[in-house]
Amino acid sequence: MEYKCLIVDTEYQICSITINRPDKLNALNREVFAELDHVITEVIANTEIKSVLITGAGPKAFVAGADISEFASLNREEAMALAKRGQDIFFKIENSSKPVIAAVNGFALGGGCELAMACHFRICSENAKFGQPEVNLGLIPGYGGTQRLTQLVGKGRSMQLQMTAELIDANEALRIGLVNEVTSSVSLLDRAREILTIINSKAPVAISKLISCINIAAGCAGNGSNPGFTKEISSFGDCFETEDMKEGTTAFMEKRKPTFKGK
Ligand code: COA
Repeated sequence: MEYKCLIVDTEYQICSITINRPDKLNALNREVFAELDHVITEVIANTEIKSVLITGAGPKAFVAGADISEFASLNREEAMALAKRGQDIFFKIENSSKPVIAAVNGFALGGGCELAMACHFRICSENAKFGQPEVNLGLIPGYGGTQRLTQLVGKGRSMQLQMTAELIDANEALRIGLVNEVTSSVSLLDRAREILTIINSKAPVAISKLISCINIAAGCAGNGSNPGFTKEISSFGDCFETEDMKEGTTAFMEKRKPTFKGK
């Protein structure tokens, strides 16, 4: 299949998937989701591929979030359907029998941070910035961020990061365990491939068993065992019934600060 929003390239049994909408900082719109869903399904089925690397095009962003311009017209049910769609694709990544790592090359915000967290682990470049800034839009994460950030960095840090919408840099992300390694921008992809080459030399069945067991230990098996993901979908939908959400998303599109009223 020809992809419009992705660059997909396989070399030495490593499939590199690059989200490619650099003029919109690689924001996840419906088209990206459809293509991501398709490529992940293909990669898992393709016996020539042993592992996967996900990154973003351009020097500035991994993924700067869900595409906010698609939010404005959604009602509660449509928003819940969108969150369910995002969660299902991210569960597919998380439950992949093949290792999937994120090489974060810039902003990983909102849905971008959630995508990175759905990968089995993350490395990033020195210019990376992470955050779940949805409250700036009168929203909460919808693609698993409330659950996976808490699993990765603990309750207190997760609460603070998500309530303040603060962005953190690469070294802080390393310090709190959100990423495993920080590299220079130029060596990021080489380092990711180096790690995957080591993993590719191990027994594939053992690797896939590790993934499923560790996912259960982390409470993110994607089999309905963690009700937090479902709660996140309905809570995300609830936000779409508020005036604050309309104000937050409109303010972003109009490039101004929002004024929230608590309604
Ligand atoms: N959805 C849709 N469009 C987005 C986007 C998103 N999440 N993030 C960035 N863009 C678009 C901008 O609207 C802009 O488009 P334009 O050139 O047509 O106006 C373009 O990408 C470049 O972004 P810009 O904001 O001009 O870059 P910046 O360097 O000034 O700021 C960010 C970078 C990442 C700080 C800023 O883009 C931002 O805050 N993005 C949204 C982050 C967010 O809230 N994510 C969670 C969404 S749920």
